Amino acid sequence: APVVPFHGQHQAGVATEAQRNSTMVSFDVLAANKGELTDLLRTLTDRARFLTAGGTPPDPGISAPPTDSGILGPQVPADRLTVTVGVGASLFDDRYGLASRKPAGLTAMRTFPNDFLDAAQCHGDLSLHLCADNPDTVLHALRDIARHTRGAMQIRWQIDGFQSPPRPSGTPRNLMGFKDGTSNLHGYDTQQMNDLVWLPVGDKSGWAAGGTYQVVRTIRMLVEFWDRVSITEQENMFGRRRDSGAPLDGDKEFDTPNFAADPVGTAIPLTSHIRRANPRTSDTAGSRILRRPYNYNRGIDSVGNVDCGLVFICYQKDLATQFETVQKRLADEPLVDYIQPFGGGYFLVLPGVRDANDYLGRTML
Ligand code: HEM
Repeated sequence: APVVPFHGQHQAGVATEAQRNSTMVSFDVLAANKGELTDLLRTLTDRARFLTAGGTPPDPGISAPPTDSGILGPQVPADRLTVTVGVGASLFDDRYGLASRKPAGLTAMRTFPNDFLDAAQCHGDLSLHLCADNPDTVLHALRDIARHTRGAMQIRWQIDGFQSPPRPSGTPRNLMGFKDGTSNLHGYDTQQMNDLVWLPVGDKSGWAAGGTYQVVRTIRMLVEFWDRVSITEQENMFGRRRDSGAPLDGDKEFDTPNFAADPVGTAIPLTSHIRRANPRTSDTAGSRILRRPYNYNRGIDSVGNVDCGLVFICYQKDLATQFETVQKRLADEPLVDYIQPFGGGYFLVLPGVRDANDYLGRTML
């Protein structure tokens, strides 16, 4: 269906099956006080409601500038656009009197071993993830939102992302050539989403019920080096075959790796990405995360190397026991020589907008 419903208990863009194109944008909020912050969140809600439904922009009359950029033509198509809004820990400093409203689990993104963080590409007061089937729909939405919120928030960093079609079948590939997303939680699995992703009613941060914690990690791939590594070594780093996506102890993409039957890592190395990320023991089941990553490509850097990689995005109920626990298990995995995390942030995805009278962040303010 071309329209992803905007209203609901949860925001769209988390459980939604990934659209092909996206941009992840982090903003500094400039609103002068809580009243202006409320206006900003109401405006964001109104724009998201219009853009995700699609329709005809209002006619401003002949002397005013057009109300719409026009890049999608006279009719704005919905194009499966989703607008997902999160808030960072910095929004709960003293500026808006929201310190006591900060959810206990929301911190600023930590620096992990092997990180190469650029301060200008980290953190932010508000995150906006726009996803749609086509890249011009994503850009149109960003321009519309930026125009309507000018003065109240300002872009801090931004990164566009895309997903490849399945080649030849199954899960889309990342820019190292491997299928990415084979073993993942499923947005359509309500039980999994309630157990591991959505913040429940009655949570300590009661106002955030229906929301979820979002981790963004922008990770460059050092593809010039990667492309010189033998296929066996590449496959041992992930624990899967490159072409089929099958685990190294199986034949087909969706075969389940049997780590218990391979205790010393003869088939699947103990240091492999999949084994570290998800050891599949009973005590690690609670650390699973919903990954919703996109590939990025930013051309070349100042010395002529390709600047491409992964906009790693994941969702979970708890940052410490899920993302950070997985990230710590991955510390010093062999893959770290070929990747460079340079930015990102932690955000709380706000509860969904229930109906035409509701707005983003209402329960927080
Ligand atoms: C699985 C690539 C970063 C967590 C995988 C797989 C690939 C992959 C190819 C196997 C296919 C699949 O099951 O999806 C990458 C690359 C990364 C990266 C290229 C960086 C550029 C991360 C990070 C985390 C993470 C930062 C979390 C801290 C996982 C998890 C799995 C996985 C949980 C599933 C393991 C399983 O259940 O078998 N990744 N990944 N990955 N990755 Fe990553």
